[in-house]
Amino acid sequence: MSIKHYLQFKDFTREEYQYLFERTRWIKDQFKAYQQYWPLVDRTLVMIFEKASTRTRLSFEAGMHQLGGSAIYLNTRDSQLGRGEPVEDAAQVISRMSDIVMIRTYEQDIIERFAANSRVPVINGLTNEYHPCQILADIFTFIEHRGCIQGKTVAWVGDSNNMCNTWLQAAEVLDFNVHVSTPPGYEVEAERAGLYGTDHFEQFADPMDACRGADLVTTDVWTSMGFEAENEARIKAFADWCVDGDMMRVANPEAVFMHCLPAHRGEEVTAEVIDGPQSVVWDEAENRLHVQKALMEYLLLGRIQA
Ligand code: CP
Ligand code: NVA
Repeated sequence: MSIKHYLQFKDFTREEYQYLFERTRWIKDQFKAYQQYWPLVDRTLVMIFEKASTRTRLSFEAGMHQLGGSAIYLNTRDSQLGRGEPVEDAAQVISRMSDIVMIRTYEQDIIERFAANSRVPVINGLTNEYHPCQILADIFTFIEHRGCIQGKTVAWVGDSNNMCNTWLQAAEVLDFNVHVSTPPGYEVEAERAGLYGTDHFEQFADPMDACRGADLVTTDVWTSMGFEAENEARIKAFADWCVDGDMMRVANPEAVFMHCLPAHRGEEVTAEVIDGPQSVVWDEAENRLHVQKALMEYLLLGRIQA
């Protein structure tokens, strides 16, 4: 039987997402009612971090404990991964001692090679190209606040990074639109984003135009992890790509604001917006916990009959 991995958003179908969002609702409700739910007793999650994290580590580790299992944290600095052990060898060994693996790393190719040599499901906890667990949480959060995302418009303001690419993949799978505005030279690369076509996104030179009528406005840091050497050039290039009150005012009056966090107030977003009434960033962060519990349950146990 082939193992199911979650390496990019398009690894699952729309129907699988419908199941996962319903399952997340149930798992979140149980958690809020202090109901113990331990379907993963004796299961071990290994978390491999080659980049820093607060939310991803916390949500996966807490989530696995809450499902009755345990979680082990490895990072590049303290393991042989940082000393040149081939990723294929690491995958063989780690997957013989665990039931599921989450990896945060650099190139997507690294996680693909790990998964190809793994005996257990592998989850992408962020690569240079994609951040599927975050978009899973973001769409669940949109559904909680505004209902179905199909046919809606998401405005992406800023870098065409791992978050942007994943929004674009999600738009294809779940049938909504993304209006993207990046500074010149930082445009979406459709092949790197792993897109099937260009039907679900439109590029705008002016971020105000991208936000016009949008149902969700979102952004991310100007410099992602791994691109620190470009920081100075990016600070200059991105100065006009700051989500502010004017951008929110041209969006749908019901629009929500999201940011995967960590945020830099005064750079990609003003304090007025991220701390304002349309911002749902804290729900968005919390929902990482609930969607990833549903994801781990699905990868390990398949569909649970309600
Ligand atoms: N949003 C997110 O992935 O946060 P961390 O980098 O803190 O894990
Ligand atoms: N695009 C950011 C997201 C951090 C959660 C990065 O890759 O650093």
